[in-house]
Amino acid sequence: TIQLKGKDFLTLADYSKEEIEYLLHLALELKEKQQSGERYMPLSGKTLAMIFEKPSTRTRVSFEVGMVQLGGHALHLSSRDLQIGRGETIADTARVLSEYVDAIMIRTFEHEKVEELAHYATIPVINGLTDDDHPCQALADLLTIYEVKGKLQGLKLAYIGDGNNMAHALMLAAAKVGMDCAVASPKGYEPKEAVVNEAKNIANESGATIVVTNDPYEALVDADVVYTDVWASMGQEAEAIERMHIFAPFQVNETLVQQAKSDFMFLHCLPAHRGEEVTEGVIDGVHSYIFQQAGNRLHAQKALLVSLL
Ligand code: CP
Ligand code: NVA
Repeated sequence: TIQLKGKDFLTLADYSKEEIEYLLHLALELKEKQQSGERYMPLSGKTLAMIFEKPSTRTRVSFEVGMVQLGGHALHLSSRDLQIGRGETIADTARVLSEYVDAIMIRTFEHEKVEELAHYATIPVINGLTDDDHPCQALADLLTIYEVKGKLQGLKLAYIGDGNNMAHALMLAAAKVGMDCAVASPKGYEPKEAVVNEAKNIANESGATIVVTNDPYEALVDADVVYTDVWASMGQEAEAIERMHIFAPFQVNETLVQQAKSDFMFLHCLPAHRGEEVTEGVIDGVHSYIFQQAGNRLHAQKALLVSLL
């Protein structure tokens, strides 16, 4: 049986295929309960602290609403208002919050910060996005793909764009569940080599293939899932104009997606910039599942909260 109580959720690399499948099935159950109006409050009296060093719409709202629906409570803590902003250490913050709350979700810059927080906290720590990973989004993405395609193993996901946190999270997620993954990025903007190697190792076990290329057409051939993300992530605002030129050939548009399977699904973690990384025609077209995808953040994270807390 699967036992995740007390575990951190820093990256999908730390979770087995079986644990991920367990979370996905639980998410489907919780979604059904929610949609049929059935109350389910196993986290009554529990509190989640949410630390944000970057902005958020989906992560903040879905975690807070998720805790409420499960009978618990969530605290939104901006790093500006915490003593962290004045130099209190991550280690002390972790130990203090562990005295009050039942879990911590954190969105920050350096991935190492989240690891340090998890090391010193005596309660589960959930990664709500770092510069290197976004496992909550990838979990919701697997859920959405499973809902639409009815399976994960044997599908092909093509990620077109910056080799960023989303590219990393999706490569690891795909590798775990046996989904082929092709990432196409401009030269110099490929995903980190360490993550690519980790994903390839994981893929060896699941039978998936991981490909990194500079050619978006090659990556998209026969893709079941077409995914893109912003060209300048949070913290890279100063590079936005320069990136706009470099990434232009990687725009997911009507011509490019002709390479994909005729029934491909388009996903984007959002927020999106129409006319930059994706055209309006694609993101608002019949192949797009972006709002079902955003909605699934709630259900996937509720499964996570119920399992870890
Ligand atoms: N996709 C995502 O994490 O969105 P937010 O930045 O709005 O939380
Ligand atoms: N890559 C984006 C994802 C936002 C959810 C960023 O880090 O800003």
